[in-house]
Amino acid sequence: SFPSSVRIVEVGPRDGLQNEQAVSCAAKIALIDMLTAAGHQYIEAGAFVSPKWVPQMADSAEVFAGIRRGNAVTYAALTPNLKGYEAAKAAGANEVAIFGAASEAFSQKNINCSVAESLERFAPVIAAAQADGIKVRGYVSCVVGCPYQGEVAPADVAKVAKALLEMGCYEISLGDTIGVGTAKTVNLMLDAVLAEVPLDKLAVHFHDTYGQALTNIYVALSRGIAVVDSAVAGLGGCPYAAGASGNVATEDVVYLLDGLGIAHGLDLTALAKAGAFVCQQLGKPSSSKVGLAIQAKCSQ
Ligand code: HMG
Ligand code: MG
Repeated sequence: SFPSSVRIVEVGPRDGLQNEQAVSCAAKIALIDMLTAAGHQYIEAGAFVSPKWVPQMADSAEVFAGIRRGNAVTYAALTPNLKGYEAAKAAGANEVAIFGAASEAFSQKNINCSVAESLERFAPVIAAAQADGIKVRGYVSCVVGCPYQGEVAPADVAKVAKALLEMGCYEISLGDTIGVGTAKTVNLMLDAVLAEVPLDKLAVHFHDTYGQALTNIYVALSRGIAVVDSAVAGLGGCPYAAGASGNVATEDVVYLLDGLGIAHGLDLTALAKAGAFVCQQLGKPSSSKVGLAIQAKCSQ
């Protein structure tokens, strides 16, 4: 059954902007401040990854130093290894996230190691974070399809999700990295994962490449999942998943939740303003239908 409230994890400043070349540090900071003002309680603000691999996130420490933090708002960062973890901690990240994959091929391309090796590399990150009292979120990428190997077995997703949970992640975000899932494949994947991981430990993370993200979120909500990752204006893609378009737009998720009477705590107008701002910076139209509709209404 549907949850009565949903926690939205805003990943636009990270998952969105990791794919964009020309966004200044000042604009990233302004965007995050606008997202805080819109009521977000959880913002993934950057990534402490190798700048050779993802140069777009190289200014994450400056971003963390420049934002105006909201009261009790969590500002999180991706950390693939101990070096990234130490940098995230020094920057004042409130939480960190490690990111594994259900697909061997994607793991190699994205983090340059096998799935098993990635879990080994995450262990010291989790140990250090636990010693510091910093919570660790876990991502599983390619939960319904991989750009390199094609189909991904639901059992492989369940295995990695369970491993991340047992290693100490408090929540597992299931990522349809390339946005190929449909209501049917997502349901089958959730059947397998829910057999291994409790419902209240799961989040969903859909990209909208084939226009199925909202449908897939509806499926996840109908099964009781109450944490949804999204990006303002539908920003983004993934540098290691060619052709993958952005995350589902936060504005669109909020509109869906409003229609279902599910609480979320966000101010849709303020969110649309943040979306319009970042799209202006990027010089491209919003990927959020709701964002565009609100903009059109405001300029009438
Ligand atoms: P590697 O080259 O195998 O690692 O990269 P290495 O340990 O040999 O290090 C190579 C160089 O990187 C060294 O520098 C290290 O110091 C440096 P050099 O000595 O050559 O000058 N380095 C670092 N620098 C800064 N911060 C660090 C760091 N680590 C090493 N943390 C590594 C392995 C994992 C580091 C690399 O592959 C990497 O950074 N990958 C990140 C890829 C990434 O960010 N992908 C996008 C995010 S995942 C995603 O979008 C999916 C998600 O949204 C969910 C979904 O949609 O499904 C989460
Ligand atoms: Mg993603």
